Amino acid sequence: IELMQRGNPRKRVTPYLLYCVSTAVIGSLQFGYNTGVINAPEQKLREFFQNVYLERYGSPLTPEATTLMWSFAVAIFSVGGMVGSFSVGSLVNRFGRRKSMLISNILAVLGGGLMGLSSLSRSFEMVVIGRLIIGLFCGLCTGLTPMYVGEISPTALRGAFGTLHQLGVVIGILVAQIFGLESLLGSSNLWPLLLALTILPAVLQTIMLPFCPESPRYLLIVLKQEEEARKALVRLHGREDVSDDIQEMKEEGVKMATEKKATVLELFRSPVYRQPIIIAIVLQLSQQLSGINAVFYYSTGIFKTAGVTQPIYATIGAGVVNTVRTFLSPAGRRTLHLIGLAGMAVSALVMTISLSLVKTNESLSYLAIVAVFAFVASFEMGPGPIPWFIVAELFSQGPRPAAMAVAGCSNWTANFLVGLGFPRLEELCGPYVFLIFMVLLILFFIFTYLKVPETKGLTFDQITDGFANKAVQSSGPDAVIVSSQTGSEPVPLSPT
Ligand code: GLC
Repeated sequence: IELMQRGNPRKRVTPYLLYCVSTAVIGSLQFGYNTGVINAPEQKLREFFQNVYLERYGSPLTPEATTLMWSFAVAIFSVGGMVGSFSVGSLVNRFGRRKSMLISNILAVLGGGLMGLSSLSRSFEMVVIGRLIIGLFCGLCTGLTPMYVGEISPTALRGAFGTLHQLGVVIGILVAQIFGLESLLGSSNLWPLLLALTILPAVLQTIMLPFCPESPRYLLIVLKQEEEARKALVRLHGREDVSDDIQEMKEEGVKMATEKKATVLELFRSPVYRQPIIIAIVLQLSQQLSGINAVFYYSTGIFKTAGVTQPIYATIGAGVVNTVRTFLSPAGRRTLHLIGLAGMAVSALVMTISLSLVKTNESLSYLAIVAVFAFVASFEMGPGPIPWFIVAELFSQGPRPAAMAVAGCSNWTANFLVGLGFPRLEELCGPYVFLIFMVLLILFFIFTYLKVPETKGLTFDQITDGFANKAVQSSGPDAVIVSSQTGSEPVPLSPT
């Protein structure tokens, strides 16, 4: 609805803004595609590893060694993601937002190329190294896209556009699930093409990016190019008078000049940043430790355990629910995150009940499917989209890159742990495994309820001032670097 309110100039969506946001969101699509793509061709890749080993060394690879190599190829993606997401800060400070996206595409071409040529070259090493490089690339995407989109969107549309990152991710996952079907690209001959397909969007984004502006906030606040920033804003927002945006950015610039340079360590030391960085990290953890990727990496196995006859279609069903739900996701923050977490906890409980009783009552396998779909749908209410874009909102221009790096890296680390740990936990806990996520979800609900402020409709400046004011209240005025000298009204941020 917000997108349709063309009457209000502050919510106007110009074709140019859409073009730029779409260009950036190709990065989200890439992250989703590469998250989902490795699932379907598992068997084919295992066979490839075994065949190559036999050809090379004349003896067969044991099943244990094959599994080890396979888990390695899966997990190394998240290791790349941790490093990539952590590098975002230094990359954007050095090259700006737009050029960083351009540079990152080199990694996609390189990684995709290695995986695509691995079968021809009879080299499993190329798959593993390719996955690592693609992980690096996706780590960069999860920082670059939300940052650029957050910085070019008008305040009133930041939530709606922020959700587009997640929409790109879920569409990417769905496309990968569908292309991975054996009858499409998931066959023994075509899997290298499936893995290499990531090159196409990278080329497309490289062609589209030169027509997008550098982020106006970066132009004005970091490069001090006011005229360039003004021009970019006029084109993006479709109104001649952008003086209030410029004014807001200038205020942020003044504030930044008085702030000490925010390194990662500073984020934890300074009382002004400590609370928002803790919120940012916990929100990222709530996204990953909700167990969402236990579903997206392993749902086919879960559905099989639940006695579903065609589990792959239930998996695609989850991808469809995921996409539709994200598409419909309204643009709020705190309340939706709470509803989403609560919905996931209830779904996890229903999932547990149906999985544990399905042996005695076969019809419960339908309940298991419904529970997984509800789990995914609740995720996309808030825990899916919100953590990705709220970090850019919680920090001003100075500390933002460092904060994105820390938050992104926390997300990827938790992603890695769930990806690696879930199969083992499932062995240990059987049908009760989702109870672990239920407990974590309840804890994250409590944290969000007590600590996370509503940021909807506030400017970046108002949000960070709110934290600064809270820091004054708790640590005395010396603790605060920013003050109302910036001229904007301080807004008290309280969670209720
Ligand atoms: C979020 C998560 C990602 C997950 C996806 C599922 O983007 O970051 O790990 O796979 O949602 O929709």
